[in-house]
Amino acid sequence: MSKANQTEHEEMDGGDGMADETPAVDVEQFRIEDMKAYAREIAHGDTVLVFDTTLRDGEQSPGATLHMQEKMEIAHQLARLGVDIMEAGFPAASPGDLEAVKKIANTVGRRPRRGKNGEIKAPPSIAGLARANKNDIDKAEEAVKGAVRPRIHTFLATSDIHMQYKLRMSRDEVLETVGDMVQYARSLCADVEFSPEDGGRSDPEFLVKVLEVAIQAGATTLNIPDTVGYTTPEEYGALIRYLRETTPGGKDVIFSCHCHNDLGLATANTLSGVQSGARQIEVTLNGIGERAGNTSLEESVMAIHVRPKTFGLDTNIVTQEIHRTSDMVSRYTGMVIQPNKAIVGANAFAHEAGIHQDGMLKHKRTYEIMDASTIGLNTSKLVLGKHSGKHALAKKLESMGFHLSQEEIKEVFNRFKDLADKKKTVTEADLEALVGDELYQPVEAWELLDVQVHAGTNLTPTAVVKLRENATGEQKIGAAIGTGPVDAVYRAINEIVKEPNNLVEFLVQAITEGMDANGDVTIRIEVPDSRGYKETAQGRQRRRLFSGRGVETDIIVACAKAYMQALNKMIDAAHSERGLEHIEAEGELVIEAGA
Ligand code: KIV
Ligand code: ZN
Repeated sequence: MSKANQTEHEEMDGGDGMADETPAVDVEQFRIEDMKAYAREIAHGDTVLVFDTTLRDGEQSPGATLHMQEKMEIAHQLARLGVDIMEAGFPAASPGDLEAVKKIANTVGRRPRRGKNGEIKAPPSIAGLARANKNDIDKAEEAVKGAVRPRIHTFLATSDIHMQYKLRMSRDEVLETVGDMVQYARSLCADVEFSPEDGGRSDPEFLVKVLEVAIQAGATTLNIPDTVGYTTPEEYGALIRYLRETTPGGKDVIFSCHCHNDLGLATANTLSGVQSGARQIEVTLNGIGERAGNTSLEESVMAIHVRPKTFGLDTNIVTQEIHRTSDMVSRYTGMVIQPNKAIVGANAFAHEAGIHQDGMLKHKRTYEIMDASTIGLNTSKLVLGKHSGKHALAKKLESMGFHLSQEEIKEVFNRFKDLADKKKTVTEADLEALVGDELYQPVEAWELLDVQVHAGTNLTPTAVVKLRENATGEQKIGAAIGTGPVDAVYRAINEIVKEPNNLVEFLVQAITEGMDANGDVTIRIEVPDSRGYKETAQGRQRRRLFSGRGVETDIIVACAKAYMQALNKMIDAAHSERGLEHIEAEGELVIEAGA
């Protein structure tokens, strides 16, 4: 293979360059003193900054609601992955969202990490989203200020259709608001990003005026959202080029791509934007997000990585962490990855067809353009066995990036021992599933204590379940028959919990290969009535879906656990909503008219 070809495919593959200990350095040295100079350097350089919005736009996927501990784990893992900026949430949405962003800013946002070459580098910037009003901006500032690199990301719609029907504002009013609010955000925070929402369908000449005002008011990152996933790669690339070249001061600020995937073009549009001079991409793991989702981190990063001659650019992503991060996000959000999904789908590196295998054996580049190990697949599969002790397990979990207390390690160890008794080897995938399954449950309303099922060819499927109501400590038993064992279990649980819901998705998978594999069950339930529910940052109603996941060698028990998790999330959300309604009634949460 020639050197050039090698570069195109694999030169940048290599060791994982990661260490898990927090480097002992003074974190204050990583503050950016001169934001304008920093932006100018990035805008004229070859590094594309990765702005991950899994915890904000991604969490807006129906049913993807994450609780605090899950958000924390994902945030830690995103830092290990090497994202430059992490949009941790929308602090004005609720006190819970504000708290989560604050916690991420004060921990992950203050923790130096290792870069892809093992170097010590700055913690990620922590961004909080804010509509263009003072209340939202104050909340965002309060949430992110603990980070070494805090960022306020404020937005206002600029397309005619949004301004006329949603905002009910004239162009002049929008221009004035952008100037005032960016300036206000800038008075609180050195790093301000501005997004003209629905930029993809906005009048480019008006956009130039809006962006000029934003730059003059102090924004150093200008994000151009294709909010409804309408543009084509040629159009989006041309828009970025036009805005960069025409907006006064545009060449010295960072242009950013934010594309939705309604036509399946999000990654193509983002890459086109990058080729037109954008130096930040806004992405989510697995492409999750509202409707058809956002640009996927793994696709855009790997395209830039695998095709260096085409793009001539690089990112700071530690690609070896991609698979693990994708897996964690899928597990915690309950958003299952389609098998043929590029980069992270189960079939992405599987070469089943005989003709492909023959070619692969002769030369692996005949049908494979990147190594599975580049995204961290098939690397260390190690593995613990039934004789491994708690210390070995703790070390392993730490090296996998989990931050567990002694108490949590004890719980995981008990589950690990049970599993190791049933299964000869326990792989990293098993451990990831087990940690996700066992820990980080919110305070649960109900706990599953016992489940028994009778089923078979000549039996009416019958289930008996025992649950504990945690508020009272009371144990309750329910029994039911069903069309199958899972139906019987769910009916028995319903008899006790009495929370109406519809099962809208049900998926059983195996975590690893082999007959003794752990079963991994993902379900999604929907609240049948139409009570008002939380809105997204853009003011859209969210569908009331809750996901649950259960992992066990016995798949009926896994089904019961998945259902309990979804039910508990549903009950928890109903409680928080009641809390939010109370705050709104007291007038503390001001929702901008039309936003
Ligand atoms: O899609 C969109 O317009 C957004 C903005 C808030 C940046 O997510
Ligand atoms: Zn978006």
